[in-house]
Amino acid sequence: MQAMFEAVVSGATDPEIEGVDVVRRAALTLTPTDMLEADGYVLGTPANLGYMSGALKHAFDVCYYPCLDSTRGRPFGVYIHGNEGTEGAERGIETVTTGLGWHKVVAPTIVSGPPSMAQLESCRELGATVAAHLMR
Ligand SMILES: Cc1cc2nc3c(=O)[nH]c(=O)nc-3n(C[C@H](O)[C@H](O)[C@H](O)COP(=O)(O)O)c2cc1C
Repeated sequence: MQAMFEAVVSGATDPEIEGVDVVRRAALTLTPTDMLEADGYVLGTPANLGYMSGALKHAFDVCYYPCLDSTRGRPFGVYIHGNEGTEGAERGIETVTTGLGWHKVVAPTIVSGPPSMAQLESCRELGATVAAHLMR
């Protein structure tokens, strides 16, 4: 969902957040190096067939063991877009990020159907909150 992604990026790149470089990576081509080089994460996915996207699952598949231990404690947030049931996607991400020991610094933004202005604002705050945790 492009509008949710753009709202997250807009929050993370808010001019009040200084000293944080925001990079965008497509889940399908994400490498363990990309994940290791970031200090925090915002994960976005549709809910498809009751789970996170295959692309995000693939990112976790290739990055999980290389990143286990070395990314522990890093802040992250999640946004999910679906239309009929996003619980499985949320649960799957929860399981993997718990295994990695990441720190959820903001409640997930979960949207079913077209996002409202309030839900886009929630995406903005999601991006801003994760980025604010990385300010030094
Ligand atoms: C094959 C397929 C399976 C889907 N499964 C689910 C699902 O399990 N739960 C859900 O909430 N939405 C499901 N959806 C809806 C998608 O999540 C929705 O189309 C997605 O959020 C993309 O929205 P967009 O096309 O407006 O970007 C599914 C869509 C497709 C095509």
